[in-house]
Amino acid sequence: MWVVVDPFYSELGSRVVVSGGFDLLPLEFKVFPDGEFYVRFLGDVSGSSVFVVMGCLPFQQSDCFLRGVFFASTLKDLGARFVSVFYPYLPYSRQDKRFLSGECVSAKVFVDVLFSAGADLVATIDVHSPDVFSVFGERFINLSSLRAWSEYLSSRVKGSFFLVAPDEGRLDVVSRLARMVDVPYTSFRKVRDLKSGKIVSLEPRDESELVELSKGNDTAIIFDDIISTGGTAARAVKLLRKYFDGRVITLFTHGLFLPGSIQKLIEAGVNKIVSTDTVKNSFAEVTVADLIVDFIKKNIT
Ligand code: R5P
Repeated sequence: MWVVVDPFYSELGSRVVVSGGFDLLPLEFKVFPDGEFYVRFLGDVSGSSVFVVMGCLPFQQSDCFLRGVFFASTLKDLGARFVSVFYPYLPYSRQDKRFLSGECVSAKVFVDVLFSAGADLVATIDVHSPDVFSVFGERFINLSSLRAWSEYLSSRVKGSFFLVAPDEGRLDVVSRLARMVDVPYTSFRKVRDLKSGKIVSLEPRDESELVELSKGNDTAIIFDDIISTGGTAARAVKLLRKYFDGRVITLFTHGLFLPGSIQKLIEAGVNKIVSTDTVKNSFAEVTVADLIVDFIKKNIT
């Protein structure tokens, strides 16, 4: 089996190659003066399984999509037996339904096109909402980062703590993480304006529960799948601060950290920001490399 590492963010992919002891498929990649991509694979993939680790950067999600399409299509065309395309962060995944009539459900189109291009398997971690991808059956895999987070919480957070889901979409995953590390949790209720995407309101789901948890713990930990503008997380920290004066930590799987987001979190009263390395960012204290290596070893031949 070969592993291809997307050259735009190669740190995570390289970690996967080294820690899994896999063969790296060399490639020549350049960007023409007008911005178009050139790709050439420098190894014989015919009859082989190839696992591509993509690497997306904020503001360049569409380019990252196109590279995945070029990789999948070319590898298949060169005779690869099975092509897996792994997006540690799956761009466009938040447009997962037709919120307003006439909208493109970009999340589904994204994956559909990868399959049409030649991918046999598309996989990711902590996708925003897995339901939209169920039409692809076992050809689409969504790994969970919870094992990495529970190891982080158990080894790095001292004293008593509770978890907070910043909206109802994260409630299920936060409750599972809370069970893994055996701590209590609570959640907030968020309402967004469907047209502008702005947060209209954020409030505790159960105020008395939040009051109780705030009295009895040293640390509160907010867990969300994505930080982009920082709007959701900053509102959640601010709300938490009305009840809790201990240490506040925010955890994110996908740290896009758009300009201004960190400032918003600091102004809201956060004490520590932690992210995984699915996207290149300065807060990536937790790596998902081992999860990807395990997945490859158990599922890809
Ligand atoms: C939305 O429901 C997600 O789980 C995140 O809360 C959201 O995408 C984060 O985006 P932002 O940082 O722009 O609020």
